[in-house]
Amino acid sequence: MAKIIDGKQISAQVKDECKEKVAKENLEVTLAVIQVGNDPASTVYVGNKKKACEYIGIHSLSYELPEETSEEELLALVEKLNHDNTVHGILVQLPLPAHINEDKVIETISPKKDVDGFHPQSVGALSIGQPGFVSCTPAGIIQLLKRSGIEMDGKECVIVGRSNIVGKPMAMLMLRENATVTICHSHTKNLKEVTKRADILIVAIGKPKFITSDYVKEGAVVIDVGIHRNENNKLCGDVDFEEVEPLASAITPVPGGVGPMTIAMLMNNCVEAKG
Ligand code: GUN
Repeated sequence: MAKIIDGKQISAQVKDECKEKVAKENLEVTLAVIQVGNDPASTVYVGNKKKACEYIGIHSLSYELPEETSEEELLALVEKLNHDNTVHGILVQLPLPAHINEDKVIETISPKKDVDGFHPQSVGALSIGQPGFVSCTPAGIIQLLKRSGIEMDGKECVIVGRSNIVGKPMAMLMLRENATVTICHSHTKNLKEVTKRADILIVAIGKPKFITSDYVKEGAVVIDVGIHRNENNKLCGDVDFEEVEPLASAITPVPGGVGPMTIAMLMNNCVEAKG
């Protein structure tokens, strides 16, 4: 029986630490949250981010822009917020409408206010071990592992998925923890053989229940970044939890594993942005 890594509890711990710091040091922190259009999933995420700000005592400024907003208008707003000394963090919710170049928007956010950790300067700093904001989901996974007492030093870590937001920064963070790191993706040959080497298996591929028991070594720690809704409206991850849980030594559930950590680490980044 695997230990269930409780992301709800650990994220609450992280948020409470942020709340305490804000109160103790009388910090006035402001996060600007920009949403373009009204993608329903984005609306839920943005709402949750604003709620977390309220809980911690971070001011949030909300910019809800219409779908037709031009790239120039959005870039002008980001520039204005970059120069506003009362704003410490800027978050542009992705995805953006197709007529707006996401990379251009991300590159316009000041690295000092890049609480998502998506700016090329933040990504570069992470890869050469310099201080900077780290993408929230991979940073949250490190906290899940550390706070569950899971050793990373010298361990074989296999990451499935090579996205800029999760897979690549995750690899950099695991290297920083002295793990031996392998990144797999859709072109990897003999995927099962590679994933079976993992002491720590981190899965972010966006395919429901893709990782079954034959991908997992007995005693592995399994971290599931995926979240999907099945035909019965039930949530599941990229890992087939029922099959893999008996094999694993520790595993994150979906929901209540990695998901809640993303917002907790965003809050942590906002508090640091003030720092
Ligand atoms: N869309 C999905 N996840 C994220 C995230 O972490 N940050 C932003 N800005 N947009 C997202």
